[in-house]
Amino acid sequence: MGDAVRHLLSAADLSREEIFFLLDAAAALKRRPQRLLEGRELALLFEKPSLRTRVSFQVAMRHLGGETIYLAPQEVGLGEREAIQDVSRVLARYVDIVAIRTYGQEIVEQYAKYSGIPVINALTNEEHPCQALADLLTVREKLGDDLRGRSLAFIGDGNNVASSLVIVAASLGMDVRMAAPRGYMLPEAVITEASARAEEAGGSLTLVHDPVDAVSGAELLYTDVWTSMGQEREAERRRIDFVGYQLNRELVSRAAPGALIMHDLPAHRGDEITDEVMESEGSIIFDQAENRIWAQAAAVAFLLGVAPQIEY
Ligand code: CP
Ligand code: NVA
Repeated sequence: MGDAVRHLLSAADLSREEIFFLLDAAAALKRRPQRLLEGRELALLFEKPSLRTRVSFQVAMRHLGGETIYLAPQEVGLGEREAIQDVSRVLARYVDIVAIRTYGQEIVEQYAKYSGIPVINALTNEEHPCQALADLLTVREKLGDDLRGRSLAFIGDGNNVASSLVIVAASLGMDVRMAAPRGYMLPEAVITEASARAEEAGGSLTLVHDPVDAVSGAELLYTDVWTSMGQEREAERRRIDFVGYQLNRELVSRAAPGALIMHDLPAHRGDEITDEVMESEGSIIFDQAENRIWAQAAAVAFLLGVAPQIEY
């Protein structure tokens, strides 16, 4: 069941052409919201906390004329109170589309296998594709639509945010650099996927351990927390392992003049990024947060087979 249904579980589920389409659609919806989803219902099934993802999906659906139902971490108990496949089949009888925030990627994969409606990954331990779409929408607003050869350096953990980001940025032909300590690099499968996309798009993916190598001359600097949700017990160890990976004035000074600063939020100020850099003129962090609305509006409409009008 559910074979013909389109899901967004990983950034790699989207072809290059679909990424371009979604970014154009998101920009069009931001310019002029369209009530494309009157009477449609999105369920938000969240097993971890959220500010941006939850609220931006709710606001996005309201702009589209649809509605949302929010299910908080203590409510459903995916695979605990009830088997994943049962939750999946029941929710499909009530709503039109579901966005899930949970732990392992295998949970959303298992859920989608039984789902008669589209499933969106609203963050797993492995990926955060909605974030990556909003991020590249933001970068396009700042640097222009053609991002081929533009340089983006991610400094920090090879986590969910980094994985989805490098796949989408590589698909757009960007010069993507990643600096992570040993043991925290991107998973092999992500490296393979992003490298193939970079090659196809005329971009590149460079993996290093020295943050200075990654940021040298880069136009965009991106970081995320060192300890993600669910890894709290490792926080102390990680704080030691990530020494030298903080986005601070010194590291930013090695980037291109006027480099733009990115973070998906929430930030741990004073750990992966300083207050000063977060508040600096080059910060586009809150534009990223705002653009979650439009990237997700485009994704929901796309998965429901409703195309926004795009004026090129
Ligand atoms: N960036 C992001 O996904 O934020 P939340 O965890 O608040 O949703
Ligand atoms: N890597 C972070 C992202 C939060 C939006 C986490 O998974 O907690």
